[in-house]
Amino acid sequence: MASQTQPPAAAPASIDFASMDGVDLDHFWMPFTNNRFFKQNPRLFVAASDMHYTTADGRQVLDATAGLWCVNAGHGRAAITDAVTRAAQTLDFAPTFQLGHPLAFRLASDVARIMPAGMDRVFFTNSGSESADTALKMALAYHHARGDHTRFRLIGRQRGYHGTNFGGLSVGGIGGNRRRFVSQVWGVDHLSHTHGQAVRFCRGMQPGNGALAEELEELVALHGPETIAAVIVEPVAGSTGVLVPPQGYLQALRDITRKHGILLIFDEVITGFGRLGKATAAEYFGVTPDIITTAKGLTNGTVPMGAVIASREVHDTVVNGSPEGIEFYHGYTYSGHPVAAAAGLATLGLYREEGLFENAAALAAHWEAAAHALADCPHVIDVRNLGLVAGIELAPRDGTVGARAMEAFHRAFDAGLLIRVTGDIIALSPPLMISAAQIDTIFGMLREILNDLA
Ligand SMILES: Cc1ncc(COP(=O)(O)O)c(C=O)c1O
Repeated sequence: MASQTQPPAAAPASIDFASMDGVDLDHFWMPFTNNRFFKQNPRLFVAASDMHYTTADGRQVLDATAGLWCVNAGHGRAAITDAVTRAAQTLDFAPTFQLGHPLAFRLASDVARIMPAGMDRVFFTNSGSESADTALKMALAYHHARGDHTRFRLIGRQRGYHGTNFGGLSVGGIGGNRRRFVSQVWGVDHLSHTHGQAVRFCRGMQPGNGALAEELEELVALHGPETIAAVIVEPVAGSTGVLVPPQGYLQALRDITRKHGILLIFDEVITGFGRLGKATAAEYFGVTPDIITTAKGLTNGTVPMGAVIASREVHDTVVNGSPEGIEFYHGYTYSGHPVAAAAGLATLGLYREEGLFENAAALAAHWEAAAHALADCPHVIDVRNLGLVAGIELAPRDGTVGARAMEAFHRAFDAGLLIRVTGDIIALSPPLMISAAQIDTIFGMLREILNDLA
């Protein structure tokens, strides 16, 4: 029978990965994008290596955002791409439901090795959003396994981002992401974000503010501790503009949750794998939660993958406390996918061999000084930083929130620098392989862009 569909324009073997020939922009409905604007003004990358992207028109762009907070080891690293190729050729796919393959177990052990003591049970997902929802369900399963059936409430935080699935959306605190999707997880409440009384141009952590964590006691009193399953926070809120917590805040959340039998989840999708100069923010801050969510830097962004790391206590309670059979009714077809697991193993190997977390730690002071040197630029109303992350907040233009930073984003791209903007905040988070000279280049270029900006 004759096929009703047109033959593809090019057979897969003949795809030229770096060519725009025959590319039609209409069909891809792009995520978190002004599609109408983009398709009139496309900006595309066709290749990447180390600290740079190559654009479709052949220009080099210095990556000050590690892609989307994920390419921590730098782009196109041969150790990772070789591992991915070999894995795909050896075992393209194997289920992990009631079956297994060695790479997923190996990677789980490697991840466990760099987690805080006692956190060594690893559940694989495919993204940060899936990690958030997995962690929330794990918390509910934990209380259920203990016979604590009234704990159903999940507490998030304003200006928190935990991805776009319904669980993460519900505990997340970004109005624009939530408002259009009325149906959300029931019984969720939110803490205030940590930036209400923040000191501007503060280097590193904010000064202590006991009242912020005390709010959790107020929510506990309001709802009853016996109804609250978990509190989820990003140790440093990334997506809403680099909100650095006050001294002592995370430890106070730990103390209050422990006192009331509530699980504490750190969403480390951004802070995990070296962003603060340690394997996790938990290690950096010296505060151990019950569950950590990760994604992004786990595979250096090369293949989608996330991991949720549970304490031995959470894991054993669910697994040993359930009747014989499947203990946790949750998982994804691609949990522990062999190609992603190979990418993860090679990525963690690179972090170790090249000392990339240590490089981030060693450069943090230089990064901080370079970021704060922008304080005298036009429009800059705040600079904040921690590890290899910085947020530069601009005064909004009258009536058009976000327009000034978006113009900076476009100008930077055209000048050969990739930055990220959220509202009027520029967020920077380069690959951890960056050098001091490249840090100076980033902030030097930004200075010029800001000086020219209306
Ligand atoms: C803290 C945090 N959690 C979750 C997510 C969602 O990750 P993904 O986009 O991979 O679903 C992100 C993404 O930026 C994030 O920053």
